[in-house]
Amino acid sequence: MYSLKFTEEQERICQMVKDFSLNEVAPGSKERDINGDFLATRDLLKKMGKLGLMGIPYDKKYGGAGLGYLEYALAGFELNKVDASLGISYSVHISLGTGPIYNFGNEEQKQKYLPKLCSGEHIAAFGLTEPCAGSDASASQCTAVKKGNKYILNGTKCFTTNGEFADVIVVFAMTNPELGTKGISAFIVEPKNFPGIKFIKREAKMGIRASVQNVIEMENLEVPAENLLGQEGKGFKIAMATLDCGRIGVAAHAVGIAKGAYEYALNYAKERVQFGKPISKLQVIAFKLADMYNKIESAQAVTLKAAWSKDEHLPYSIPAAVAKLTATNTAMEVTTEAVQVLGGTGFTMDHPVERMMRDAKITQIYEGTNEIQKLVISGAILR
Ligand code: CAA
Repeated sequence: MYSLKFTEEQERICQMVKDFSLNEVAPGSKERDINGDFLATRDLLKKMGKLGLMGIPYDKKYGGAGLGYLEYALAGFELNKVDASLGISYSVHISLGTGPIYNFGNEEQKQKYLPKLCSGEHIAAFGLTEPCAGSDASASQCTAVKKGNKYILNGTKCFTTNGEFADVIVVFAMTNPELGTKGISAFIVEPKNFPGIKFIKREAKMGIRASVQNVIEMENLEVPAENLLGQEGKGFKIAMATLDCGRIGVAAHAVGIAKGAYEYALNYAKERVQFGKPISKLQVIAFKLADMYNKIESAQAVTLKAAWSKDEHLPYSIPAAVAKLTATNTAMEVTTEAVQVLGGTGFTMDHPVERMMRDAKITQIYEGTNEIQKLVISGAILR
């Protein structure tokens, strides 16, 4: 199994992200949530680029940090303790937007796009979901028709995180609708440079309010043929393999949210006096804290296992699904209990646990609902 003794480099990353989170991210997180200030989140992503975090698992040859998913997960734990909106924007940039270009791009595409994505100069997004293709990702109605040296894309994408400020969006569309999953292809789209793309809606949400999710309309969007990612018809497999990586990122995101809520509730319980003593001395509260700690330890272990499996080039599809399922349920349970520990005051915006509880809900839904994770896991164990 993997070692839980981290290297000096891993300890350094944790400390750096912790310092950045406390000094630069935590101070405005409440206001960014209230105002839905996703542009401030984008600016924080740019700052993370300067720290070398925007290409953390990618090769130095392309401007990355030359590290792996373990370091990416450790960074995610720290960042998400204080701001899940920034956390998901970061995860989408790394795993879903940049990942497919790194893993499936040809050398020319990698040289062209990765350095600016890894430095944070450019931000990435992922266009898979459509109004009629959510959990059933294969039901895509977006089309891509080759005309000369271009593909012409038409259709609607939704819930695209980072969409309207992204410089690069990996978009999936049907090049041959008769072939089902084998008719889907992937494209590298530059929304600011290619004509025919519009951001027609910004979702209003209960959580991760300082991140942006857009509805995107493509009307005769012109994509140069050289921006086909991989081969025609391989798009569905690219999407699935990319989501395997994304699910490790979401697991780290969820562990971080849970840790943030647990640490806040722990400190509160040591200070809040009722019945003549700190409430942490009441067994009912102490046991709640023990349960929260236990769940986080388990979620962290399976998340690190998934990250380690990926870094070691072992199969990681099932570990990623297990990590996503475990960690996101943990985030929901732990944040709910954190609000309970704080009582009435936990329900107010005077404390961050209500925001953490709102943020936790979506982790059970995006990048494959937890029901889809069970489908993936059951499919593997019953095969
Ligand atoms: N890696 C590589 N290939 C894979 C794969 C994987 N993990 N999983 C499946 N495939 C391949 C299969 O081998 C199969 O290939 P062959 O035809 O050659 O055998 C092909 O893909 C089709 O596989 P399935 O028949 O299993 O496909 P399916 O249509 O039954 O779908 C599913 C499977 C697991 C339900 C899939 O549709 C899925 O993961 N759905 C959830 C989608 C999702 O996570 N969406 C989130 C979007 S991103 C987001 O949330 C927004 C954001 O910004 C945060």
